[in-house]
Amino acid sequence: MTERKVAVVTGGSAGMGLATARELARRGYDLVLSSRDPQSAAELIRSDFDVQIKLVAGSIADPGLAERLATASEALGGATALLLNHGGPPVKPIMALTDDDWTGAFQTMVTGPLRVMRALIPQLQANPTGRVLAISSFTVKTPFAGIGLSNALRAALVNALKTAALELGPGGVLVNALAPGYVETDRIREWNESYARQENTNVEEIRARTLETIPLRRYGTPEGYARLAAFLLSEDNDYVSGQQIVYDGGLVVAN
Ligand SMILES: NC(=O)c1ccc[n+]([C@@H]2O[C@H](COP(=O)([O-])OP(=O)(O)OC[C@H]3O[C@@H](n4cnc5c(N)ncnc54)[C@H](OP(=O)(O)O)[C@@H]3O)[C@@H](O)[C@H]2O)c1
Repeated sequence: MTERKVAVVTGGSAGMGLATARELARRGYDLVLSSRDPQSAAELIRSDFDVQIKLVAGSIADPGLAERLATASEALGGATALLLNHGGPPVKPIMALTDDDWTGAFQTMVTGPLRVMRALIPQLQANPTGRVLAISSFTVKTPFAGIGLSNALRAALVNALKTAALELGPGGVLVNALAPGYVETDRIREWNESYARQENTNVEEIRARTLETIPLRRYGTPEGYARLAAFLLSEDNDYVSGQQIVYDGGLVVAN
């Protein structure tokens, strides 16, 4: 009998989350697909792949989401892989951020992902190839002006995940983060539009300027990101843990 593979994917309805869910389905994983509105993404995946998909709608910041995800994956036989993802926080100068901005973003970017992980760990530990991966950002390595929430809170999550890799390694669970550079999704289009407005220029100018900073002179693709993510989440990854790997066309060469 082929062994069941079950992936829980949060933020799985668009962009890199959806691309990774699709890649996992292509590799035969049953899915628990979650986001605030995952319905149409699930239909897309079902139309292409013959896998079971359970939908769990809700924000990762919602305290009740974690248990609902664990119940859904248990019903599929138990999670073997967990992808932690959500949308990016607002673009705002750091001195303009209020206490409420910080508290709200902390719920989405730190407390929520760690709560989901805590709920899923018993299932991941029960499986010989339990894997956790979080979508992070290259700005953890080289902070970027205007996105202080992302720079600071993703760094907090990445170090929490490195701690988890140390503590969960003896139980066989591998934990990593995969940081995108510039990847062609709605988020990067919004990001470029936001910088264009701030600088009173057009999106093409911002895009051309960012391309100059990327050695490969092109943005990455959600599908390229997804292939690397699916590798890190699978049994093919037998020894990479506690890392933040970048998918960025050579943009970040610092440690
Ligand atoms: N694209 C890039 O180049 C780039 C670069 C660096 C970092 N990042 C970061 O990488 C992550 C993924 O980026 P992307 O470009 O793939 O984003 P995207 O295309 O905007 O997709 C974001 C996904 O997260 C879901 N989501 C949003 N808020 C959520 C919440 N509170 N709880 C659960 N799910 C939520 C969205 O679905 P619903 O609307 O249905 O909830 C959607 O499925 C983001 O955090 C982004 O900031 C992206």
